[in-house]
Amino acid sequence: MRYVRVEQTDSTNSFVREHAESLESGTLVWALEQTHGRGQRGNSWEATPGMNVTASLCFRPSGIHARDQFAISEAVALAVSATLRDYGIEARVKWPNDIYVADKKIAGILIENSIMGTDIERSIAGIGLNVNQEEFLSDAPNPVSMRQISGEEYPLEEVVRSLGARLEEYLEKIKGDPEALHGEYKNLLWRGAGSFQYRERESGEEFSARIADVELSGHLVLAAADGSTRRYAFKEVEFLL
Ligand code: BTN
Repeated sequence: MRYVRVEQTDSTNSFVREHAESLESGTLVWALEQTHGRGQRGNSWEATPGMNVTASLCFRPSGIHARDQFAISEAVALAVSATLRDYGIEARVKWPNDIYVADKKIAGILIENSIMGTDIERSIAGIGLNVNQEEFLSDAPNPVSMRQISGEEYPLEEVVRSLGARLEEYLEKIKGDPEALHGEYKNLLWRGAGSFQYRERESGEEFSARIADVELSGHLVLAAADGSTRRYAFKEVEFLL
């Protein structure tokens, strides 16, 4: 893994996109400060300068088909979870790729792939991991940091490098076998067992269900209490906290 440290940028995902020509595959760009950190669904991503990991991996996955792109999401989510485990923190993956410790979000992932024909030409995997931040001011519902969990302060660059090593390891595993991590991903799902409340985004309907499956495509399959089976793409359903 190569590392590029920038003092300040708008967003490391945007930085990688703008400098993609000059960045080798397998480069992790990390910033001490993002002025416009981006989250999923157009949200912003809060990180006090110098406190948290805000990083984006640039890589060109040779031979991963566009239809297998969820494998990248699984690899990145498992790499972030493994990094936390390296520091003694047990995390789970909230479908599709939020990282949770108990009922709080410790890391978010924003993957932006460019597709060329049937292949993924370039993938930008942006990771925001809350490390030393002690207070969150935005209206994000339930953030937490490593420091809030353990009381310890962590050397940021060391955490970046641990994450880089785990990303390298996990992305290697899906080379040539996009299904390689699917079992591990499903085993690490947050609320993977038991019934919980969900809300369909479009209809607003709330219902109780348990996770029946996550397909290789990334679709979430829920077995609802009314006996129906429901299948959702990312953003079509939300967990009620
Ligand atoms: C989410 O909403 O959960 C995804 C958050 C992703 C945040 C990271 S921080 C590094 C990279 N740069 C960005 O602008 N976003 C991602």
